Amino acid sequence: MPFDMYSFPRPLTLETTSEGLKRTTDPYASGDNGSIDFGKLMDIKPRPIQTQYSLDERSLNDIISSGLSSPRPPRQMETVKSSECLEALLSPSIRSSVGTPREHHAFEPHPMIADAWEALRKSVVTFRSKPVGTIAALDPTEDSLNYNQVFVRDFVPSALAFLMNGEPEIVKNFLLKALRLQSIEKRIDCFTLGEGVMPASFKVLHDPVRKTDTMIADFGESAIGRVAPVDSGFWWIILLRAYTKSTGDHTLADMADCQRGMRLILTLCLADGFDTFPTLLCADGCCMVDRRMGIYGYPIEIQSLFFMALRSAKSLMKPEGEGKEFLERIDKRLHALSFHMREYFWLDHVQLNNIYRFKTEEYSHTAVNKFNVIPDSIPDWIFDFLPLKGGFFIGNVSPARMDFRWFAIGNFMAILSSLATSEQASAIMDLMEERWEELVGDMPLKVSYPAMEGHEWRIVTGCDPKNTRWSYHNAGSWPVILWMLTAACIKAGRPQIARRAIEQVETRLSKDQWPEYYDGKLGRYVGKQARKFQTWSIAGYLVAKMMLEDPSHLGMIGLEEDRKMKPQLTRSASWTA
Ligand code: GLC
Repeated sequence: MPFDMYSFPRPLTLETTSEGLKRTTDPYASGDNGSIDFGKLMDIKPRPIQTQYSLDERSLNDIISSGLSSPRPPRQMETVKSSECLEALLSPSIRSSVGTPREHHAFEPHPMIADAWEALRKSVVTFRSKPVGTIAALDPTEDSLNYNQVFVRDFVPSALAFLMNGEPEIVKNFLLKALRLQSIEKRIDCFTLGEGVMPASFKVLHDPVRKTDTMIADFGESAIGRVAPVDSGFWWIILLRAYTKSTGDHTLADMADCQRGMRLILTLCLADGFDTFPTLLCADGCCMVDRRMGIYGYPIEIQSLFFMALRSAKSLMKPEGEGKEFLERIDKRLHALSFHMREYFWLDHVQLNNIYRFKTEEYSHTAVNKFNVIPDSIPDWIFDFLPLKGGFFIGNVSPARMDFRWFAIGNFMAILSSLATSEQASAIMDLMEERWEELVGDMPLKVSYPAMEGHEWRIVTGCDPKNTRWSYHNAGSWPVILWMLTAACIKAGRPQIARRAIEQVETRLSKDQWPEYYDGKLGRYVGKQARKFQTWSIAGYLVAKMMLEDPSHLGMIGLEEDRKMKPQLTRSASWTA
């Protein structure tokens, strides 16, 4: 690749005027120490909905794009109201003209963008004529199974795309509907689930005769394996913050019902019990990886989402009444959780060497090998995989068990929530660069690495024919993860990494009809059982593009480092190398 394709223009400064922050700046401008000033970036409010660019915005966009393609004059930007979107959705005849985004690309938009918007709008689900979510996949060739439902986790990238495009109504409706569903009694056989559990998905049934709509939710009672989604509640809180940040509308989060909804979710995970660790103990298959894959225990994806949800709730909870006590509990947990994760989940070559030399059977407070990990249990592959430069949060840590696998979502969400220190975030980015072929491959990007095969696959997955090596959750490649990679790259000050991955996606994703996942060591083959027109593959691409174009969107999904949570000691000096 020619160097300048990935380089960024000269930094400019941020100006504060009486009208607020003027965006005359290069959003990727470096701070004094050469790092991107994420604090400033997070404070910039994304572009408000308006009918035309201001001169300042025009120059911003021209500047951002100047290193990428030749600038062109600004376009007239049209305001699309959500009511119009709904119109577009309901009447196909006008879909093609209205069903495109507000056009604010300072450089020639990729033809895939229009395709993606059209597909995303087709996936919108309505309830009593209001948009409430997006269907998981609209593949006409496959049996829909439960892909005709609105999944909470799948809706997140759709929601972000709509928010970034100035269409918050569908997000608000979704948040309120999910809240309603949370309050219904949830039973599996004779057992009742905790009050705070949010559904994995819901389905809307339209009765054309009676002209009624009904909503049916699944809290795990119909899901394969019957596992409740631990991630749904966390995503709900994270999305509530994204909505509030993006719209500036605090009335939704301030509503008594939303405050209660947050408290119910947190009650489930902050309850005192038998835990000796601040991490959250989970069953296999309780998150995006929703089948048996050996992630039971303390999976990284859940720990990162838990951390982010706690920090989001902290910013949304009112310090009155019960809220006050919750805020104190949140603070305590955040402190313990960040210490535990940064200390015990972090792996780089220095730490691997420490583990390799661990003594075992240590007793009492002076133990170094606290969880009694037996060095013989370290898998061979990790010694070759881990570069001298770079590190990551491993998949799981529990007594005598370290799962050294890489899980992309947990690591990127750790960067976005600032669970990762800035040094750790840089090290994760270094790893991405050093291990591009393994972690990104041809079609970004691997959900986990490496694949389990043979005997290990039989024992760990229970012979799952969907999770065979290099497929689906077993090191398959999921385009949806592109949005998280992009957001994490921008936050870590390495947008060029995301740009490279996006370019790879653009060679195939739309031609391949937006598959759910790809198979193979390099992610070269459309997944064996992958749905086509998978909504989060579509929305993930859009979010990645919009965020790279206007990095101030990062503010809705990224959290700045909390200085109070800076670790006092680190075990490895390689982070700063
Ligand atoms: C698969 C994924 C899950 C996703 C669902 C709907 O089951 O593993 O994470 O929510 O499909 O797309």
